[in-house]
Order: sequence, then structure tokens, then C-alpha cells
Amino acid sequence: MFGTKNIYLDHSATTPVRPEVVDAMLPHWLEGWGNPSSIHQQGRSAQRALEAARRSVAKQLNARSKEIIFTGCGSESDNLALRGVMMAARAEGRGDHMITSCIEHKAILDTAKQLQDVYDFAVTILPVDEYGRVRLADVEQAIRPNTVLISIMAASNEVGTVQDIEAIGRLAHDHDILFHTDAVQAASSAAWDMQAQPIDLMSLAPHKFNGPKGVGILYKRDGVTLTPSMTGGGQENGLRPGTSNVAFAVGAAKALEIAQAEREARHSHYLELRDSMIERTLDAFGDDCILTGHPTDRLPFHVSIALRGLRGNDLLMHLDLAGISASSGSACSVGNPEPSAILQALGLGDEWTTGGLRFSFGCDNSLADVDAAIEALTKAVTNLKEITAKYQ
Ligand SMILES: Cc1ncc(COP(=O)(O)O)c(C=O)c1O
Repeated sequence: MFGTKNIYLDHSATTPVRPEVVDAMLPHWLEGWGNPSSIHQQGRSAQRALEAARRSVAKQLNARSKEIIFTGCGSESDNLALRGVMMAARAEGRGDHMITSCIEHKAILDTAKQLQDVYDFAVTILPVDEYGRVRLADVEQAIRPNTVLISIMAASNEVGTVQDIEAIGRLAHDHDILFHTDAVQAASSAAWDMQAQPIDLMSLAPHKFNGPKGVGILYKRDGVTLTPSMTGGGQENGLRPGTSNVAFAVGAAKALEIAQAEREARHSHYLELRDSMIERTLDAFGDDCILTGHPTDRLPFHVSIALRGLRGNDLLMHLDLAGISASSGSACSVGNPEPSAILQALGLGDEWTTGGLRFSFGCDNSLADVDAAIEALTKAVTNLKEITAKYQ
């Protein structure tokens, strides 16, 4: 009924929820459904479960429980981080300028744009190099006396490039500037140590690592002040009002625990799939295909390519008919026939910027799935080239 018989190669969009995660969540609907803000027994029990989930997330990040905020999704974490820091900085007279990059997800770019256009903050959007990397020298040059926040993603959803967030974070701290990273794509493939890493705020989305949709995580270093985007009942330390979603917090914690426990084992499996897919795609299509993003500094489970003169969405439809689920870049831009702004930012010409494709692996994928994807892609490309030739 849900089209599950296909080969799913779109784990950067979302991932299946692990049965262990569902098992951990179920009792919090069926039995422990109390409101953690209530004083009575059911409330206290729900409160204990919520705080246990918070402690568990904190442990995985080597952070403190009070530094973990449960939100509704990765986008909400990004929104709260940016708007929260900038509004608080203005209220405290600390500055009104932020720096981010053109390769960020729209949850960052559109929030930055709103901060600039509606709330009159100063925003610098940095360019990236041909691989999608932010240059440290550009970040340094963009720093002003009134800069209060630098936000650079840990890894790109569209081209998979991993940024040097340690170096950028250290640079921010050398200038007494807060550093936020959108780690929505990188959460499960990197190790996190918030006591050691120069990160003040970090956004995570559990549905990207086999957790439920409907919950996000924002790490906020103790002492960083945020102005809440929403006001209400004071939940999540006054930063995210609304009756707490205990089951989802429990699911988020369980998913992060599993992802981190399996991280190293998954890493080599992903590398095998990724590198085989890249090699075979480049072999199959020669000069008509390029790898987008960095060849090695990229997410282990992520392959992004562009095919000359073709449209990613046409290819996706062919792949879908052949039972392969992939993406043309970011899930949010599927159906959008415009050239990819990210591929343009990498300096790619018009012949490439509509032809982006992304394949992202999960723990259940195998080399046989790579075989099937290559076969389907080869047929799709041949087919589309024939159609194009016929109508030219
Ligand atoms: C890098 C990045 N940031 C933010 C988001 C938004 O996360 P969510 O869909 O949970 O709001 C995504 C989703 O694809 C993403 O890839």
C-alpha cells in the first residue's frame, strides 16, 4: 500500500523508523500518556520519561541535560537557533549581524532572509568553492564588530559535502561569536562531544536517523541566551511552549542511541556502497556525468551527481517507475523545475544545473541495490536521450 517494495535510496530525505524505536515509544501512548506538566502521578511519570530521554540525548552528545531542547523538527531547531540568538543579542545590545552560507538548507536561508528583510538584521551569505565548501578566509573576512552568530551546516543535504565546522567554530570563538551548526544530515555519521567541540548550538532531526518525524532536537550550550519564537506554557525551559510530546522525545533518544552505537559499523558499509555507486556512475556516463560536492569530504552514505543536459525530475520519474526511489537534491525542491541554486553556487554551468540527482543509502541497502540503481539509471538516460533527439 505504501510502495515499500521498491529500492529506497533517499535516506537524506527521511528514513524508516526502527522497530526498537517504535517499541520504546508505544508505552508512552498506551500507558504513560500523562502530561509532564501535571502535578499528579501520571504527570510525574511522564515527566520522568521526558527527562530520561533528555539525559539519553545529552549522553550521546556529551552534553548536559539542560542543554537539550526538544522541538518539532530540524527546521524548527534551525529557526529557534537563528531567530533566538539574534533577537536576544539585539535585546541585550550585543550586536545585530550574522554570517551563514549559500549552501545551507532553506530552514536557515529563509530564516536569515526574514531576519534581514523583516527585522532589519544584517546578514552575510558566504559563497562556497567548487566542492561546496565554505572557505575559512571568507568567514574571517566577513566578521564585523557587531557579528553575534555564525551558522554553517555540518554537511550538505544536496551535495553531501562536509564542512570543517571545528575550524569555523574555533574561529567564531576566537572572536567571541556564537557558532551554530545545522547537523541534520551529519548527525548519525559523526561523533559528537559538545564539551570539546566549539559548537554553541546544533540542530538535529531524528527522522533522518531512523527516528520519528514530528520531533527535533536543538543543543544549546548552557549560558547561551535565546529569545523564544513562540510563547506559552513555559515548557522546554521556556523555549518551546506546548504540551510535551513524551513519546516522540523517547523515540528521538532511542534513535540517536542506536545510530551512535552502530555508527562505526555502518560507516564502512556506507563507504562501500557510496564509492561503488560513484565509480560505476562515472564509468557508465563518462563526460556526460559529474560527481557534485566533494569527492572524499562527503557524507559516507551520500552520492550526488549531475547529468549533462537532462532534467533531474524526468530521471526521477523513470527511476520511480523502475522501482528506485531517489531525489533530485533536497526533498523540498522536488517538483521544482528551476535549476538548482546549490549547483549554481558550485559554479556549474546551465548544462548541469537541472540534472542533479541524489542517492542516499541506509543500513538496509546492499550492493545489489547499487546494481539495480545503475541499471535503471542507464535505461532512464538512454530513454530520455532518445526522446530528446526525436523532438529536437
Ligand atoms: C540540512 C538540513 N537542514 C534542515 C532540514 C529540515 O529538517 P526537517 O525536515 O526535520 O524540518 C533538512 C531536511 O532535509 C536538512 O537536510
